[in-house]
Amino acid sequence: MCGIVGYLGQRDSIPVLIKGLKRLEYRGYDSAGIALCGDDEIQYVKKAGKVRDLEAALDQAAFAGNTGIAHTRWATHGEPNDINAHPHLDQTGRIALIHNGIIENYSSLSVALKKQGVNFQTDTDTEVLVQLISAIYSTGEISFAEAVRAALQEVVGAYGIVALCADEPDTLVAARLGSPLVLGVGEDEYLVASDAAPLVEYTRNVVYLEEGELVKIGRDGYTVRQIRNDQIVSKQVTRIDLSIEEIEKGEFPHFMLKEIYEQQRTISDTLRGRLIPSQATARLGGIEDFLPRIEQARRFYITACGTSWHAGLIAKHLLEDFAEIPVHVEYASEFRYRKTVVDANTVVIAISQSGETADTLAAIRKAKDRGALTMGICNVVGSSIARETDCGVYTHAGPEIGVASTKAFTAQVTVLMLLAQMLGRKRNLTAATARKITNALSSVDRLVANATERSDEIKTVAEENQEADNFLYLGRGLNFPIALEGALKCKEISYIHAEGYPAAEMKHGPIALIDESMPVVIIAPHDQTFEKIISNIRAVKSRKGRIITVTDKRCPVIDSVSDFVIEVGEMDPVIFPLIAVIPLQILAYHLAVLRGCNVDQPRNLAKSVTVE
Ligand code: AGP
Repeated sequence: MCGIVGYLGQRDSIPVLIKGLKRLEYRGYDSAGIALCGDDEIQYVKKAGKVRDLEAALDQAAFAGNTGIAHTRWATHGEPNDINAHPHLDQTGRIALIHNGIIENYSSLSVALKKQGVNFQTDTDTEVLVQLISAIYSTGEISFAEAVRAALQEVVGAYGIVALCADEPDTLVAARLGSPLVLGVGEDEYLVASDAAPLVEYTRNVVYLEEGELVKIGRDGYTVRQIRNDQIVSKQVTRIDLSIEEIEKGEFPHFMLKEIYEQQRTISDTLRGRLIPSQATARLGGIEDFLPRIEQARRFYITACGTSWHAGLIAKHLLEDFAEIPVHVEYASEFRYRKTVVDANTVVIAISQSGETADTLAAIRKAKDRGALTMGICNVVGSSIARETDCGVYTHAGPEIGVASTKAFTAQVTVLMLLAQMLGRKRNLTAATARKITNALSSVDRLVANATERSDEIKTVAEENQEADNFLYLGRGLNFPIALEGALKCKEISYIHAEGYPAAEMKHGPIALIDESMPVVIIAPHDQTFEKIISNIRAVKSRKGRIITVTDKRCPVIDSVSDFVIEVGEMDPVIFPLIAVIPLQILAYHLAVLRGCNVDQPRNLAKSVTVE
């Protein structure tokens, strides 16, 4: 996913833009660039590689200006190289554009522009847009902002763009459709970015652009208009409480490790003000107005991607167990294209850390078209999914910078536990059972701390297994989604192939994979299926598999069959998944570090997949 930063104000824009790009590096990228309005000209540098490479190139370039744009590109059209990096300039060299998204009709637009004599320099869809803006602007009949708007009316696709023009050095034009943009309103200075991280150093006052809106930013202020009809839109300024330290690594070597340890606090943050121990239930303010419709729903769909989908699988268990509501969990990319039984009697829950995942956003839009009540479980305040769903609950995990989701996942599971408990209490869940959940959740800080204190032991496990080419993760019931999540963490940051399976499924195929080179991580708490999972472990052991057991409490049986035991402490089985995932996060982290992988920005991955 690309990163976008624009600045207009009194400062030299280069340091502001470079620092802003660094705050967006977590999104994943393969090239970066910057453009400024100089003295009646556009000055720019763009390069494949990292922001530090761009900085080095800028040191050689003697230019400065206080209106500028900068971009980190995650390649979708055209390979990652200097020429395909953004910003892209028009053929006059007087207009520059940065873009996050995909112009789907770029091919037909480029044919028409070539007929007008435009010579393209790159094979990107973004250059087609900047050349189109230029062709419209060159008529000389409209302003630069109007030319941008007119061009966007011809575009089919998704975009978050910021553009500047040498003729109007005190103007920035930004617009969004499908890729988020947020405007920072400072003291005589303005920033526009893909998310709030680049803004907070300068202002906490932000304006979220909605779909199909364009903003013209000038020295005297900004104006937001609708792209389709040019109508002015009055916008509310929101104050965000994001802090710099929240987006800095602090004493940790990686954001991911910091965020794993933050779970000692973030789960409590998620719970704060929501548990009602006296009534053995929970209060979720963001859905209260919609409770009558939620309670009458005949079915729930949960739709998400990746780690968030794993949280959905846990929610299914909890909602069906506590509230006896039939729940279907679907990958958003599948949900959006197939004929689903969704109607006014359906609640569709979208789970998304970023709130910007394209497939999940599309799934929500489909659900709304079909009359369903939509609910968003998001971490990023003001994100598209949070704003487009009828109601929702923020997970309050704070900004998650590492591409591999950790604290956002445990926050999602916590919210879904509260939702299941609350809805269960409106049905047949007894106060006594519900109180067990509340009591278990009230001790979560200690349990998380205990799990994170196992890090050195887990590092030893990683050292002993770092050469493995494959890992298998097994779990039953509520711990099967945790097996899936552990496998995803392992594969996405250490690049070791890993699969998660229901433990009982071993005998239906995967056991053929077991030999002395296969580490098998098995989640085995002393719950109702403990004996069954021990027999699964024995089956693996008899084929010389290496057994890594995650359990609540060691015992002679577990010690007799395990090569490694990670003990996380005794607790109610219902919150065991919330704690058992932590050693799996730590194991993946140490494997990745030992294998020299880029923990926070794994290859080929982005923090939020805003393209399809
Ligand atoms: C998880 O570690 C990955 N980063 C990825 O699977 C992620 O969960 C998925 O892309 C969904 O993102 P979202 O929660 O922001 O929608």
